[in-house]
Amino acid sequence: MKTETTIQGLSASLSPARSARKIIGFVPTMGNLHEGHLNLVREACQLCDMVVVSIFVNPIQFGPNEDFENYPRTLEQDSRALADVGCDVLFAPTVEQMYGNQPNFTNIHVSEISEDLCGLQRPGHFDGVAVVVTKLFNIVQPNFAFFGQKDYQQLAVIRQFVRDLNIPLEVIGVPITRAEDGLALSSRNGYLSEEQRQSAPTIFSSLKAAEAQLHSGRDLLAVLDTIRQTLTQSGFVVDYVEARSPDLQKISEFNQDVVLFIAAKLGNTRLIDNLHVKHTA
Ligand code: PAJ
Repeated sequence: MKTETTIQGLSASLSPARSARKIIGFVPTMGNLHEGHLNLVREACQLCDMVVVSIFVNPIQFGPNEDFENYPRTLEQDSRALADVGCDVLFAPTVEQMYGNQPNFTNIHVSEISEDLCGLQRPGHFDGVAVVVTKLFNIVQPNFAFFGQKDYQQLAVIRQFVRDLNIPLEVIGVPITRAEDGLALSSRNGYLSEEQRQSAPTIFSSLKAAEAQLHSGRDLLAVLDTIRQTLTQSGFVVDYVEARSPDLQKISEFNQDVVLFIAAKLGNTRLIDNLHVKHTA
């Protein structure tokens, strides 16, 4: 595996593959890699001739009181894990390499989708994601780009601007990787104390309980209320518990497939998860 830290170096590394019309797959990450990230890379290796992974903690997607400074940076360990799963090129640029020394004036805002759910609690977050992902797409110029369904709203935002701006690549969504107890893997799980880690699987168990209740005919809004109560009783501070259609429209009845969304805090650690519940009629 090659590691490149500059845009020029990356272009030089990819140039032979491009000339040979190899299929290039791309997995953007912020590092501190776990099995969830590595499963995206495995999926990319299945579909593509050459796989590029980026590790870049993107300052412009963090709010002023968020964890940009403290975000875990574990490049050496990540690099070994990537080489083991078959990544061809690791792109690990500095902030200066990505944004230069001059201020940037261009924003990408996907209206409506970006303004719901996490967008309400984290204003500007998805604009920051859209800008960095677009820059990375332009730098890597992949045929396929892989994103996790764990960040369902992020995936929807990316699909939307790729379509709207005619970015010439295909976005692939990859299912959520979970720990054995159901907790969705996340770099932020490392912030949890032992006691908080014990409570954290309540997020997924309450989603699964909600799914069973919906299938037995219970009212959607009552089901959401039960999730809120369960989380609060388990020591979470709930940011939101919401239901949307798979394309993120508001719904109040279970008369089609529904995606249940949770964002909740344990101490200072904000965890998110979602579950697609099929309507089987
Ligand atoms: P990061 O949180 O590092 O996640 C990188 C990719 O891994 C995202 O597509 C995310 O959805 C996916 N991922 C994380 N945990 C997962 C899990 N448990 N199962 C499946 N996929 C999982 O998301 C970002 O970085 C950034 O916003 C980024 C897109 C890189 C832009 O900066």
